[in-house]
Amino acid sequence: APWLGLSALVGYLLGSIPTGVIVARLRGLGDLRAVGSGNIGATNVLRTGDRLAAALTLLGDAAKGAAAVLLLAQWGPLPSMLAGVGAFFGHLFPVWLRFRGGKGVATFLGVLLALYLPAGLIALAVWLAVAVLTRFSSLAALVSAALAPVSLALLHQWGAVLAAAALAAALWLAHARNIRRLLSGAEPRIRLGRAG
Ligand code: G3P
Repeated sequence: APWLGLSALVGYLLGSIPTGVIVARLRGLGDLRAVGSGNIGATNVLRTGDRLAAALTLLGDAAKGAAAVLLLAQWGPLPSMLAGVGAFFGHLFPVWLRFRGGKGVATFLGVLLALYLPAGLIALAVWLAVAVLTRFSSLAALVSAALAPVSLALLHQWGAVLAAAALAAALWLAHARNIRRLLSGAEPRIRLGRAG
């Protein structure tokens, strides 16, 4: 049906908005892709030492995912879910950045929070717990994403399980380099304190 494709497209265009790149420009941090890992996410913005910019990036990237889900909710649950999936892939492959985007962590959380709040809150809590315990942003994301389909299944949200599993698989693929660095002990830890 055309409205399903349209929902995914609207989500994709929203997800394509590169919050991190825009925020970094506005805060005078230069080209984010020349910083640290070169990634456009909040974790890499934090490496500039600008915590406000990192928070704004996190919120913006989550908000665009949530907005896509909520915007298309009036058309029904399936268009809503497809818009969220579209937003996630828009973040990974943004039309504005020649399809070289981010790793989808914040957008994944935003989509999940809007699709089914309890599962989104669990994913957020898991992310926070692993991040605080290990200070590996990537590991927190990998664990949180992998557990999202599991928590949705336990909550009997069967439709969302499929979508979350697809997004989690893509998120893992997007983190291939981080996974390699985690395994070799070369992954940098995040710093939230003043010392960072
Ligand atoms: O999961 C966090 C991810 O965004 C890692 O970012 O910059 O360390 O590759 P980065």
